[in-house]
Amino acid sequence: MRMKIVGTGSALPKRIVTNDELSQIVDTSDEWIRERTGIVQRRIATQETTTSMAVEAARKALEDAKVDPEQIDLVIVSTFTPDRSLPNTACAVQGAVGCRHAAAFEMNAACSGFLFALNTVYAYFSLGVYKTALIIGAETISKMIDWTDRSSCVLFGDGAGAAVVQMDNESENPYIFVQHADGEKGNVLTCDCHRKANMWSETSDQRETLWMDGQEVFRFAVRKVPECIGEVLEKANLSAKEVDWFFLHQANKRIIQSVAKRLNVEESKFPVNVDHYGNTSAASIPILLDEWKKTGRIKEGDRAILSGFGAGLTWGAALIDF
Ligand code: COA
Repeated sequence: MRMKIVGTGSALPKRIVTNDELSQIVDTSDEWIRERTGIVQRRIATQETTTSMAVEAARKALEDAKVDPEQIDLVIVSTFTPDRSLPNTACAVQGAVGCRHAAAFEMNAACSGFLFALNTVYAYFSLGVYKTALIIGAETISKMIDWTDRSSCVLFGDGAGAAVVQMDNESENPYIFVQHADGEKGNVLTCDCHRKANMWSETSDQRETLWMDGQEVFRFAVRKVPECIGEVLEKANLSAKEVDWFFLHQANKRIIQSVAKRLNVEESKFPVNVDHYGNTSAASIPILLDEWKKTGRIKEGDRAILSGFGAGLTWGAALIDF
């Protein structure tokens, strides 16, 4: 059974923050950030929120797919930066865009979130429960950042990407995926929940900020991403050369280059936009898909591998045809 992405959309904050601007806040430089990460600028939310960008991206994806909101059976929003705990962001999107008949929930698998949402939709499709889904990755990471920590604040950006996905029983090309987690190594990339001390607490109020052991995360990514892509290729009985595109989570250009090298595939098959947007976590893959689709670079019938990786630790890959 095949699953098809029939429409995409994205939404980004208006405010561009350059590396030079960051070098006025922390001890860093445009040269250091470009060399180590490939990032040149990122978008930072000023008025935009996770929900407002999720709604905008969702509307554009529905328009692109020419699918009526009332046809949507399921809405999933992947995020680790919701505006509120309740109601969940997916319900807010469902209400705002008019997916009146859809179930809606939020999930958090950090930077693997969009991929894990896609896999979840496939499981529902395979059981015959749903036929059309709207999935969104949306983040305002800027509100979690410690803006005095130069090793992490230069890496991230805000944004949202969405996809309308439909079951396609006609094709024989299956959707193939693998997904993994390793909670024992979770401490290399953390973000605590905001905790307000109650009157009996023995701790004080705690703010949420993101913390990362960059080198450990880098090592994890360059090992696990080629490995899980290899698993998908083996399941599909394909070689890496037979794949047209590798849409990887956009964390760092050096990670993408290393994966291309390990798979022995030319870098031109690895779309990159981390230079413009930084790491937008769950939003990065759908924003990238939207950009490549809208600029006509993805052709009907192209075969692509998507791969997400990040906090948890979580990682995975999927093979999908356009
Ligand atoms: N500007 C200037 N110097 C910086 C800096 C910055 N923004 N951030 C760190 N440094 C310094 C460090 O303090 C260190 O200085 P020291 O040698 O005096 O101690 C030096 O640069 C080297 O730091 P190091 O951590 O070894 O750099 P690195 O080459 O590993 O690059 C990352 C750091 C964060 C760019 C890199 O590890 C990385 O990209 N990791 C993966 C992060 C990621 O993608 N996370 C999300 C995954 S979903």
